Amino acid sequence: MLIITAKDYDEMSQKAARYIAAEILLKPDCLLGLATGSTPIGTYQELIRIHQQEGLSFQKVRTVNLDEYYGLPASHEQSYRYFMQETLFDHIDICPDNTHVPDGLTKDPQSYGKEYDELIVALGGIDLLLLGIGSNGHIAFNEPGSYFTAQTRLVDLNPNTIEDNSRFFESKDDVPRQAISMGMKSILDSKRIVILASGAGKAQAIKDMLEGPVDPMLPASILQLHSNVTLIADKAALALVQPD
Ligand code: GLP
Repeated sequence: MLIITAKDYDEMSQKAARYIAAEILLKPDCLLGLATGSTPIGTYQELIRIHQQEGLSFQKVRTVNLDEYYGLPASHEQSYRYFMQETLFDHIDICPDNTHVPDGLTKDPQSYGKEYDELIVALGGIDLLLLGIGSNGHIAFNEPGSYFTAQTRLVDLNPNTIEDNSRFFESKDDVPRQAISMGMKSILDSKRIVILASGAGKAQAIKDMLEGPVDPMLPASILQLHSNVTLIADKAALALVQPD
């Protein structure tokens, strides 16, 4: 895994945005896999700046998002569809039909998950997948214990994740208990992966991801087995990693 060290959150965001912008320049109709959470916000802001000031076009870009809270409509301020519109899509020239976020209201999550995976394949597979990491090492909403072969599906959120994400809701009780999450299989099938981490709260998960055994209890550790992963992290997130 290639590790790129940034001095802080802003530098991490700038480096990640440059990485994504380069992918779009090389392949204007690339399929991007996109993440939510607080970590990629700066990356999306920087991509908007590059679009506005440097003319980067998203006209042909297609996107698939990692996950969505189950039970939240797209109009809910904490839904990931809402987040993507507010944080990125409404500020760039992407074609709305080219953006895909799992439907949090699907009545048949099992068939829906299968269709979502088929959609990714039909779109040619993910060229570049942007990931964050949960403090317990989850990626997308693949919580500790997820099968590495898992497909897109309905998942129960770990109490630790509910606690972490409660900062976005009025109370912990308002955090949905389930989500539709892209499975580990689609994540691993991505051609290239960029994983972002910022802050001391991610330091243990990053250490375990890089130095620990490949273990379903630390879902991000599976990335050790992928041949093209770049970690872009700030110094605080890398603080526990042993230098080579
Ligand atoms: C959520 C998302 C993940 C994200 C994680 C970390 O659980 N499903 O995709 O990586 O949060 O979020 P943050 O970046 O806010 O720490």
